[in-house]
Amino acid sequence: MPTSFAGKRIVIGITGSIAAFKVAGWVSTLAKEEARVTVIMTDSAMRFVTPLTFASLSGEKVYSDMFADGPDISHINLAMDADLFIIAPATAHTIAKLAHGLADNLLCATALATRAKMIVCPAMNSRMYSHPATQANIAKLKELNYQIIEPACGMMACKDEGQGRLPGWEQVQEIFLRSVSAGDLSGQRVLVSAGPTREHIDPARFISNRSSGKMGYALARTAYRRGADVTLISGPTHLPCPEGVKRVSVQTAEDMRTAVMEHFPQATVIIKAAAVSDFRPETKYTDKVKKEQAGLSLGLIANPDILQELGERKNAQQLLVGFAAESSDFLSEGKRKLQKKNLDLIAVNDITREDRGFEADTNQITLIDHQGVIELPLVSKERTADLLLDRIVTLLQTRRESHYLQ
Ligand code: PMT
Repeated sequence: MPTSFAGKRIVIGITGSIAAFKVAGWVSTLAKEEARVTVIMTDSAMRFVTPLTFASLSGEKVYSDMFADGPDISHINLAMDADLFIIAPATAHTIAKLAHGLADNLLCATALATRAKMIVCPAMNSRMYSHPATQANIAKLKELNYQIIEPACGMMACKDEGQGRLPGWEQVQEIFLRSVSAGDLSGQRVLVSAGPTREHIDPARFISNRSSGKMGYALARTAYRRGADVTLISGPTHLPCPEGVKRVSVQTAEDMRTAVMEHFPQATVIIKAAAVSDFRPETKYTDKVKKEQAGLSLGLIANPDILQELGERKNAQQLLVGFAAESSDFLSEGKRKLQKKNLDLIAVNDITREDRGFEADTNQITLIDHQGVIELPLVSKERTADLLLDRIVTLLQTRRESHYLQ
């Protein structure tokens, strides 16, 4: 099931901070992604941005007055209806009220009445933020199960430098998506490997391959959205670390092996999308090899097969998934690697075409496991990741059910 905002009822509470204007962008994006966005504003918030702005962007009525709707108790209706409740920007004053359960305006009353997941995004002057009273109130909110998104550092509207800025949409969107997802990977510790490895010849040169890391990063990002704790072991790529994911950066196949082996014992699902170099130069020169001194041949030795080693070591609770980059004999090669490396699932990738495999934004993979073969469509790498994770969820479920029947 792809995780998206479509059809989700998201209540956004806006309080009196200059950062309120940034949330207009969030509301606009959420509405474009087909979320049903309800905005509640405090009186001070309306001094910074008008309700009309949010009504125009969300296409929905904006609420602010607890008594405006007469006997229709809007705060209870809004509270009951929410899939996710976000307060952004949250001022020190509203945070203090929430921490003490005060309900003297529509926003705080609705926050008390809701049972939806609550996310609070503080934004204020850095000295107000670091004040022990604010910090104590934030600690109290965490105890009450509110999720806090820490403010970013930088220059604030008052020209002070420090921590207090509302983070951008890029930082918060993955956290929001995780909150509205089905959470079908929650409790799973997913270890993903991605990208190429570099096998150094000398300080200037290396052997590598065309992997961009896009497929592995899409898997890490979507697994996080679906509730997993994700560690990403990444070879050199230009991609930013997906929000919420712990990244370990490596260069060579041997570095990758060390990092994977360190994280493997804690992992419940291991997905090896990395294109590990099968060979490395026999000699690594410490000084750059001069043109005149180089011979015409480069001696190579085999790198460890990390996946093979994981297949030998895995326990009955761990689900091991490999990829196979192939240019012919797709099914027979996939089946051979599934057996040889003792995998639970393998994703076979055609690397001869431009719209799939290495570097492309789209992919088409064939899944082979011990139940059969599933041909997936040509779609974005993110959608491919979701479809592969769907299969992993099914296999985990089947495993749980057969465990209960024994
Ligand atoms: O990164 P992108 O540009 O998005 O491209 C994605 C991809 C094509 C790299 C990816 O979808 C993919 O197919 N990854 C596997 C590439 C590969 O190394 O395939 P292989 O058939 O050589 O290896 C089979 C499996 O063994 C892989 O899971 C690989 O991670 C693992 N392996 C291979 C060699 C080795 N020494 N150690 C390993 O663990």
